[in-house]
Amino acid sequence: MAGINNADFCRKQKAALVILGGFNADKKAIEAAEKAVRRGRKEFLFGIDGIEKEIKKLGKRKFAVNVRSSSLEGYLEAAELVESYNGILEVNAHCRQPEFVEIGCGEWLLFNSEKLVEIVSRVSKIVPTFVKIRGGHELDYEGLAKKLFDAGCLTIHLDAMIPGGGCDYPLIERIAKIGNVIGNNSFVDIESGEKIIRSGAKMASAARAALKDKNFFEKMLKSPLLSQPVEL
Ligand SMILES: Cc1cc2nc3c(=O)[nH]c(=O)nc-3n(C[C@H](O)[C@H](O)[C@H](O)COP(=O)(O)O)c2cc1C
Repeated sequence: MAGINNADFCRKQKAALVILGGFNADKKAIEAAEKAVRRGRKEFLFGIDGIEKEIKKLGKRKFAVNVRSSSLEGYLEAAELVESYNGILEVNAHCRQPEFVEIGCGEWLLFNSEKLVEIVSRVSKIVPTFVKIRGGHELDYEGLAKKLFDAGCLTIHLDAMIPGGGCDYPLIERIAKIGNVIGNNSFVDIESGEKIIRSGAKMASAARAALKDKNFFEKMLKSPLLSQPVEL
């Protein structure tokens, strides 16, 4: 969660893996963030300079860094940095704020998959790579997933949102047949988390629920299904 998932917030979460950011990794993305800030969305101003500071503060945790960039170079720079701390880079093909979409960031990449595939194939040669995508569009998600896994993506972090609310479990099921999935959206209690895992996801992630309840992950780990070890 941009503006929230810094080291201080993530260190408090009893999750197996924390995801820092989203961070802006090049000049255009930072300018887009400044525009978003001017319309009141101050959470988007996380620049590349902030990544290293937050990684260092995080201490010994398994982590990924969610990154937005309008250029391949931005991703490559972030990938080198994240790799030097043994982290995972998560390409943000998810953000739908217009300032970012206009400059070829975030979910623009979902509709321009050749660009996304190029980024993933280059970045994954440097660092283990996740791709965060969003459901709810008229898209060939399976075709996209195949291309991403072939390009070297280790795991698709799937926000299986249904426009209007809820989690598209069948979409998780379809993508999980192709490769590793972290299932996301509306994981709010043990039941919804277990449903994500039963749909085939290796892990389940939560954003808003962790904001509402600081002990969220600790409570979820009481479920044997949600606390089993996984290998990606
Ligand atoms: C305040 C806020 C900021 C977010 N920022 C990001 C971001 O920077 N990158 C990203 O990939 N997703 C971002 N998200 C999306 C969440 O990671 C997650 O996919 C979405 O909220 C659905 O999951 P949930 O139902 O567990 O909240 C953000 C969500 C919120 C509420």
